[in-house]
Order: sequence, then structure tokens, then C-alpha cells
Amino acid sequence: MRPARLGWGEQGQIAPPKTGFLDIAAGVANTVRLMAEPKTGELMETIASLCKRRGFIFQSSEIYGGLNGFWDYGPLGAELKRNIKDAWWRSMTLLRDGVVGLDASIIMHPRVWEASGHTSTFSDLMVDCLLTKKRFRADQIECLAGTAYFYTGAAEEGTGKESKDPFSVLIATGKHPGYAREVARQFYQQRGLKEPVLQGERSEPVQNTTRYNPENGSLLTEPRPFNLMLKTSVGPVESADNLSYLRPETAQAIFVQFKNVFEVARQKIPFGICQIGKAFRNEINPRNFTFRSREFEQMELEYFIRPDEAVEAICGRVAKPAGPGHPGEPQPDWGWQLWHQYWVEERLRFYESIGLPRASLVEYWQKPEELAHYARATVDVLYKFPFSKRGPNGELIGEELEGIAARGDFDLSQHQRFAGRPMTVFDEELKAAWPKLDPAKQAELSERFFQSRLKYLLNAEGPLVAANADARGRRDAEGPAKEPEAPVTKEVLAAKQAGEDAEALAKGYYIPHVIEPSAGVDRLALALICNAYCQDQAPDEKGNLETRVVMRFHPRIAPIKVAVFPLLKNKPELVQKAREVRGLLRPHMSVFYDEAGAIGRRYRRQDEAGTPFGVTIDFDTLGEKGPELKDTVTLRDRDTMKQERVKIDDLVPMLTARIR
Ligand code: GAP
Repeated sequence: MRPARLGWGEQGQIAPPKTGFLDIAAGVANTVRLMAEPKTGELMETIASLCKRRGFIFQSSEIYGGLNGFWDYGPLGAELKRNIKDAWWRSMTLLRDGVVGLDASIIMHPRVWEASGHTSTFSDLMVDCLLTKKRFRADQIECLAGTAYFYTGAAEEGTGKESKDPFSVLIATGKHPGYAREVARQFYQQRGLKEPVLQGERSEPVQNTTRYNPENGSLLTEPRPFNLMLKTSVGPVESADNLSYLRPETAQAIFVQFKNVFEVARQKIPFGICQIGKAFRNEINPRNFTFRSREFEQMELEYFIRPDEAVEAICGRVAKPAGPGHPGEPQPDWGWQLWHQYWVEERLRFYESIGLPRASLVEYWQKPEELAHYARATVDVLYKFPFSKRGPNGELIGEELEGIAARGDFDLSQHQRFAGRPMTVFDEELKAAWPKLDPAKQAELSERFFQSRLKYLLNAEGPLVAANADARGRRDAEGPAKEPEAPVTKEVLAAKQAGEDAEALAKGYYIPHVIEPSAGVDRLALALICNAYCQDQAPDEKGNLETRVVMRFHPRIAPIKVAVFPLLKNKPELVQKAREVRGLLRPHMSVFYDEAGAIGRRYRRQDEAGTPFGVTIDFDTLGEKGPELKDTVTLRDRDTMKQERVKIDDLVPMLTARIR
């Protein structure tokens, strides 16, 4: 369980939006009221049932009993997801310079996953209940205390049959041991003993244990790793040679295609490649509705930056963060720390721009011991879901929506190593700057770069290419180097390689470093649904107050932007006019046309769907009350329920401004 750390943004420091990015201030102002209060756990069932009833989310393969960890998005859910992805794509690439898109295949060469480390280390520890065989993630087992009853085995009277399997059951201290014995008997019955007589019973109090199933007290298996990648076989023959994986993240395709994109996009560092696509993980325990699924979508950016040594060589310094908050317009002297801070703040702004209030988000900085060995810093953006755990003061701690990691040059280096293809870029400015540095600075930067490359080469898995058999490292190469040959160890090869990398830096070549903001579409959709869900009181047809369920989606991501209603469906002039208005709006936004039922009920249906605007065509529209109201309609706001009279001709510009 992670302790929540207050993010900078939560202290209220939101820098003004910059030109060319999503206009957050306008977006927030356009939203009448966004939910900021944390929701409680009980809400989840209500929300899940609304999702099904209104066609946001269905269980996959529902008519066959469903498939755990897989979900389908209905008409409203599909629109919501599309809007989320469009907003992300716009903010990450269309509205900024230097970020281009990629749409790569889901199945990639299996060596990709060796290079990335997924084959060897992408595992969770799992445990099985020895009684029910139910599987759990080891880190999700509740810590328990009580009295443990141990058995050395059991025998069957009369037959001589026995089981020597040890077993144990945890029960609450003070509870009758009969329960433990009953559970133990069931365990031995499963081992073929019809009437087991328990053997060697002893008991002892235990504290803080995660060795028992919290549901029934049965002992669990020892934790063992379980690789989360979903396997498949490519081609007509199923064999080990054809083994492949459904990608567990979209990021690797970006690294693998880095050189191709870099060349065709005619970019200079810093620049980014972003991608939206499906990812698959064979999660041990999918849970919390769509939060942890086995199939989901990711939105990932790999933003490639200069190593700090290159920045220093070019700019004479590496700027350091001046404090919390958005660091402003990117500058050439930014090193990885400022780029990382920049992307954390950009991502927080994005979430605000689509309706998640800053107070519902937590910025969690991973502790040094939680970081991957190559990562320099990782910030998780958490959302306070109703099912989130609570901290000591009862506050919701939040669950991860996105991770923003400073990953150094690990990923590209790994692919260079495994594919044997260079991932270096040539930086003209660096080449020009280096000879102008004084020799002491050159030596200092060179040494720092050498040490960082050496650290990577020694710590990461993968082949180290022996450039020549008597390579004995940079320091040997610099000396007379005519001693007897030493054995070529990993250390020697790594030093040699790091030395070559440092020499290449002086000539303007390096492997770019990367900042990776990686978000999940489905988790964000769920966060937006939870955030939007609201009940309030609204008058019915007769003016009596009734409970109204309303999804207060930000207009930018609302599945339907506007609903068009003729006041009465049996008046052909009203229906015809309403259809004309629908036709007018359709090219600009998603429109829902509804003529069935009383107008109040139609409003309620759209409130539940989260449609921010309703347009009603009535007799005034036809000019029956005078020419001044002819060709005007009522425009209803979902959140305030206020209605204003608007000219049909003004609808498109007015609504477009509110939904962008
Ligand atoms: N390339 C880095 C990466 O994949 P991650 O933290 O494992 O990092 C990134 O995943 C995001 O993908 C998460 O923050 C989350 O939003 C989403 N995600 C990961 N596993 C998921 C799952 N089982 N179900 C739904 N979304 C998931």
C-alpha cells in the first residue's frame, strides 16, 4: 500500500496554460459544476449497474457467463472512450510541436520482450488457496492475526490410507478450534481420505501474517512468480519456435521504431512519439470493475531528450527545477529533471481539462526503493476512486491512472544491445559545442557520461558485444596497452563499451534519454464515470421534486454533446424543424434525436447519459407566438437545468465553443 503524498498541484499552484495547448481555463469555466467530493465505496455497485443500464460498459461474452477481466463498451462507452483518446491525441501531438504518432502492431518479435525485460521480470507473485485453489496476488493478501492450527497429516481409520501433507488453518483468537478442524478435514478429504482423522495438531498465536486465505483461513501456497504476458502462437504450427506474445504495453513498439520515425519525421531531439492502442496482461486477479482488466488500452508518449551531459556541453549548464509547479515553456538548458516535472504538470493539466478536479488527483512520487533500477524518478497520478483504500485519516489514497517515468536511456540501449542496431542520434549542436569546451570540462562530462553508461551496461541484462577479443576497457585502451591479455569479463566489455560511448558523445552521438507518460484509457474512462456520477433533486412535470441521476461529464468528453427534441412528436411541423436542427448540428458534434415520451422524461434520459445540452423545438420556434421568436429554440443546460432562448443560426458557434 502506498502512502499518498500531496502533489504540488494540490497546493493550488496551477501555472497559466500556454498557447497551443488545451485551453484549460476555458474548459473549466465552461463546466458548471464538477464533482470534487470523494465518493464512498458503496457507490461502485450503483455506478456499475448504471453503466450496464445506459450502455456504457457490458461484461464481455455476457450471454456465456462473461469472461473475467474483459469488458465491452456499449454505445455511450464507445463514444466516451473515443472522446478521451481524441482529447489525449490532440493535447499530446496535434496541439504541440515535436510529437508525432505511431500505430504499431500488437504482436511483435519475441526478442522485443527479452530486450525490454518482460520475458524475465514481468511477473507478479501469486499464491493459491490450498483448499479452494483460488488464486490471489500475493501483495493483495490482507495482513491477519489470530491462532494458527497446524496438522502434520491425516489418516483414514480402518483402511490405513493416509496423507502426510502438512496443513494449517488460521482462526480468530478465542474462536472454537472446531472450525479449524473442519477446514483441515475438507483439505484431507480432497486428498482422497473419506473420513480423515487429523494428526499432530498444535496451535500458536500469529501476528501480521499473509500466509492464510482471508476468506476461509486456509493456508496458501508459497508465493511464486507468474509472468503476466499473454502467449499466442504465430502461424499454422503451434510450437515453441512460433511462440509470441500479445503486447503488455504499447511503449516497446515506439522504441523499436524509434530510428525509423526519427528519420522520416525529420525531428531533432527533444521530440516525442505517441501511440494509443490495446495492451494485454494476464492479470492474476482482475478487479474493481474495469480498473484492472486483462485487455485494456494505453495512451503512451515516449519523449526523447538529450542526456544531461550533452545539454551541459551545449548550454554551459543544466537548469534545475526552481520549485514546484509547471516550469513553463521548455528551454534548451533543461535536463531530465525539468522535463520530467514539465510532463507531470502537463498531464495534471490534461486531467483537469477533461473534468477531473485537482482535488480528486494525487501526485505520488515513487520512493527510491520502489523505482526500477534504471529509472531516475517516477510519479504516479492517482485518482480517488470510490474503491480506493483509505489513509490513516480516512481520506481516499487513490489508484493509479498514469505513471510518468524518467527512464534514462535504458529502453533504446536495450534494443541496441539485443537487436545489434545503433540507436544513437547525431546532434549537430553537440558536435559544434564540444571542441569549444575547455579540456577540464570535456574530461568531467566525459567521465560522468562514461560512469552512467557503465552503470547501465553492468546492471541491465543482455549481450555485450565484444568489439575485439582483447578489449580491456577504456582505461587500458588509453594506456600503453601491451600487457598480457586479461580474460574478457562482463566488466571489461562494459568498460570498453562505455568508453566508446563517451568518445562518441564528444563527436555528437548519443542514445537519447526518455520521459514516459503512460496512461490507461479504461482507467481514465472509469475515473470520469465515477467523477461524473451524481444524484440531485429536480422538479418533475408537475413541479414536485424527484431524485435525478445525472452524469456531469465535462462537455469535452461527454459521449453525446447535444440532444434535439421536438416538443411533440405528433406535430409534423415540429418534427420537421427538429430534424432540420439535427441536420445542422450533426457535422459538428454528436447529436441524439429523441421524440418519444414526455419532454421531462426525455431530459432525464439525457441527464443519465451525461448529455450537456438539450435543444427543444416548440411552437415558438414555428413563430406561433410572434415573429420575434421564430427560428429560436430553448437550449437547456444539463447541470443547472436553466433554459435560454437561442437563435437556430447561433447554435453551431455557441455549442462548438462550449464543447471544445
Ligand atoms: N510503459 C509503461 C507501462 O506500461 P504501467 O504502469 O504498467 O506502465 C501504464 O501501465 C498504465 O496502463 C497504468 O497507469 C494504467 O492506467 C494502465 N494499466 C496497466 N495495467 C492495467 C490493467 N490491468 N487494466 C487496466 N489498465 C491498466
